[in-house]
Amino acid sequence: MTETFTIAIDGPAAAGKGTISKAVAARLGFAHLDTGLLYRAVGAKTLTGTDPIVAAQSLQPEDLDGTDLRTPGVAQAASKVAVIPEVRAALVDFQRAFARRAGGAVLDGRDIGTVICPDADVKLFVTASAEVRAERRYQELADKGMDVTRDEVLADVKARDDRDMNRAEAPLKPAMDAVLIDTSDLSIEAALEAALKEIVSRR
Ligand code: CDP
Repeated sequence: MTETFTIAIDGPAAAGKGTISKAVAARLGFAHLDTGLLYRAVGAKTLTGTDPIVAAQSLQPEDLDGTDLRTPGVAQAASKVAVIPEVRAALVDFQRAFARRAGGAVLDGRDIGTVICPDADVKLFVTASAEVRAERRYQELADKGMDVTRDEVLADVKARDDRDMNRAEAPLKPAMDAVLIDTSDLSIEAALEAALKEIVSRR
């Protein structure tokens, strides 16, 4: 496929966007960008003393490689830098260029359907209750051997949701034309099928 086709997948912390996006991209042969990683990479740099705007403006592809970007501490730092308009602005062009790749692209994040790709071909808003999301994230982190409690993970998820929904710039919210998928009671397979059904109907 040489034409473009953009799928925007947004939603709150640990809603299953990443899993669904990766699987959708693999199934369709599309490229996938986890835009949260960009903010996590900037957040991680601020933890070692770099100014967030400088970090965003000088971000390099290799900055996205570290596995330590998936920690709760980096997630919090990411949501703090994500409120800064200059940080968001520095990351726009890269995300939009990725979205326009020949062969199709899936981008997941918070503002893909609203700000980055308002003309996306498909917009999904993936959500689940805070408790379900926190339990899934707890299992993920515990499986990786991280020393966290369920309560800490729930507090992290709620604090980030609150910051992400209430910021002035590109707040987390469903685009007017997004399709909502609540994965609280869905298996990964069922959530993926629900997403693919919407995508196929628009291709
Ligand atoms: O994986 P999880 O849903 O926990 O988070 P993430 O997608 O890696 O995003 C980490 C943080 O980056 C979020 O809490 C947001 O504050 C920020 N973010 C954003 O503001 N805009 C995006 N498009 C993606 C992430």
